[in-house]
Amino acid sequence: MAGGRPFRPSAPRRAAFAALLTLLLLASLAFLLSSAPAAASSRSSASSPPSRLAAIRRHAADHAAVLAAYAAHARKLKEASAAQSLSFSTLSSDLSALSSRLASRGPLPEDARRPLEKEARERIKHARLLAADSKEGFDTQSKIQKLSDTVFAVGEQLARSRRAGRMSSRIAAGSTPKSLHCLAMRLLEARLAKSSAFADDPDPSPAFEDPSLYHYAIFSDNVLAVSVVIASATRAAADPSRHVFHVVTAPMYLPAFRVWFARRPPPLGVHVQLIAYSDFPFLNASSSPVFRQIEAGKRDVTLVDYLRFYLPDMFPALQRVVLLEDDVVVQKDLAALWHVDLDGKVNGAVEMCFGGFRRYRKYLNFTQAIVRDRFSPSACAWEYGVNVFDLEAWRRDGCTELFHQYMELNVDGALWDPTSVLPAGLMTFYGNTKPLDKSWHVMGLGYNPSISPEVIRGAAVIHFNGNMKPWLDVAFNQYKALWTKHVDTEMEFLTLCNFGL
Ligand SMILES: *[C@@H]1O[C@H](CO)[C@@H](O)[C@H](O)[C@H]1NC(C)=O
Ligand SMILES: *[C@@H]1O[C@H](CO)[C@@H](O)[C@H](O)[C@H]1NC(C)=O
Repeated sequence: MAGGRPFRPSAPRRAAFAALLTLLLLASLAFLLSSAPAAASSRSSASSPPSRLAAIRRHAADHAAVLAAYAAHARKLKEASAAQSLSFSTLSSDLSALSSRLASRGPLPEDARRPLEKEARERIKHARLLAADSKEGFDTQSKIQKLSDTVFAVGEQLARSRRAGRMSSRIAAGSTPKSLHCLAMRLLEARLAKSSAFADDPDPSPAFEDPSLYHYAIFSDNVLAVSVVIASATRAAADPSRHVFHVVTAPMYLPAFRVWFARRPPPLGVHVQLIAYSDFPFLNASSSPVFRQIEAGKRDVTLVDYLRFYLPDMFPALQRVVLLEDDVVVQKDLAALWHVDLDGKVNGAVEMCFGGFRRYRKYLNFTQAIVRDRFSPSACAWEYGVNVFDLEAWRRDGCTELFHQYMELNVDGALWDPTSVLPAGLMTFYGNTKPLDKSWHVMGLGYNPSISPEVIRGAAVIHFNGNMKPWLDVAFNQYKALWTKHVDTEMEFLTLCNFGL
């Protein structure tokens, strides 16, 4: 049970225990050494063997008593620490059960929430008492707070992996491979071990809301992938200090992101804002059908994938945002995207149709009247990965409301395959999308082994869409280095977690 993890004996206690064992060893050694010369001298001297023998026996008895005392003390200590770890792990599983109950319900009516809150408060109080009882292990109350944060994270992680278990296709696509999970856990542990070194809520920079800068939104749970997107974009930028990256993640991953970017501050003056989606009050079941459908267990999708439909609400001060997916690598300065003329349209994206392929008929169910009435089956589909969004046009045209209507219509999945987020985008921005030059976004590095090297070289952004993600073993060898060259291999966590980079 993962909930037991954070409750390993703490370093001081382990050290005390090791010191005790050393003492035990020294004591037995001293016993042997002191009795050996005595035995030797008894052989060399013929005089009064009985008194020698008595001396040796007394010596042995003394040492036996000391050893017994040490052993009893060691046993007591071990029992105490076993009892303590037991109560901590019980408390941990209680807390994670509680947190998954809280997580599975979303906003609760007052009368249902009260008992849960009361229970949570009592458990935390219990945790505090335990902490006070075992000062040597957990020296401050703040640590216990961090501890329960981690327990909460682990509970959520479990709930999530149970959901993921039902999503074999997503697992095949490597959305939560072991090494990434390991990385998130190591980062959480680092925060736990050195809580004071990581500010929980760094002051927001004025750059985050400055509409004259270049803003990017990245929605992801994958800290390694996000670090590559930001590192590559920063290296490619002529003036990095004008680029602002807004990273939005699930609340349980936020501490891991904070640790990563605290250890590896973004270089060259680039700005990075880290946000948990729970920080946006408008993402709630009463206002968002996606949220409602996920809460009701009707959707095997993650909310993170749908956050892209809330950009104008997330960034009310901004006029334009470029959406980058987390499986891209930036190769050229993206500043020019801010000057692309969208002709009053909401979305700028690279189209992906050719001949009769990848047209709307592939993504939408045209036997449905509403689809037939509103869309052309031969309209060319575009792809997510690099999108320029004009947030003012979006607000003007009410695209979020339109998206909500389509989500409501597709509640039983008859309009499009609800495990994919693209059809919702194709519907929402139909007739409202301006095709971008193809070199802005070269896609297919996660499924197409034969993309020409010139096309890749000329791309502003390359996109590893498909199942062969560059952080997985199955990645195409010919493309892998394009991604790995931006990985910060100095990060000790990567080798710990068996990333074969
Ligand atoms: C849910 O979101 C709506 C729309 O933004 C907001 O008006 C409402 O206050 C939110 N409800 C809760 C419980 O936060
Ligand atoms: C498409 O819509 C029709 C009804 O118009 C429905 O019978 C069919 O199941 C839908 N197809 C899918 C794949 O959902």
